[in-house]
Amino acid sequence: MVALVGFYNGHPDAERFPMLAEVGGHLTDALEGEGLASPDPVRLPVAHLLDEVDPRSDVLGVEPVLRAFAAAAPILRWVQTPAYRATLSQHYLDNYGYVRVIGRGGLVESSLVSAGLGIWGAGLHYPRHEHPAEETYHVLHGAARFQRGDGPFEPKSVGESVHHQPSERHAQRFGDETCVLLWAWTGDVTVDARLIPDED
Ligand SMILES: [Fe+2]
Repeated sequence: MVALVGFYNGHPDAERFPMLAEVGGHLTDALEGEGLASPDPVRLPVAHLLDEVDPRSDVLGVEPVLRAFAAAAPILRWVQTPAYRATLSQHYLDNYGYVRVIGRGGLVESSLVSAGLGIWGAGLHYPRHEHPAEETYHVLHGAARFQRGDGPFEPKSVGESVHHQPSERHAQRFGDETCVLLWAWTGDVTVDARLIPDED
């Protein structure tokens, strides 16, 4: 939590993406307020991939978040988007998962913003999907190529960010290392992402 507040508050991307200040503000309020919820831990197979993540980074704010994530991993509530469990391969489901720091069922309960950390194993392809929430991703470990709409897949590495407008279709192809992404949602954060069939 503290590491995430430190990451967002004053982040250079906040000028381009005002939603980051909104998320940082809610996290700050929660830190100064009533404290954190303690949702029951839920483990997922993907959590073990954190063991091979080297948290050291020269990029501002990244190392404290990775260290806090690894330390807290065993007591976090790991989740997967429910509709994905019926659609994506077992290999994908064994190598993907995320935690909500703030949002529904998160360490901080909120229906206004949502943010957290996700892991995708090497080589995964996250098919095209969309959601009504506005979104910003930051790469914290590894690398991925991000597609927005029908555009090209653009490579992003640690410290770089990707922004998606509400309901903008997007997809990701992950590189040859475990990828850790920090994600933030604002707007309609109560509606899950949905995969887009190829013919849609
Ligand atoms: Fe997204």
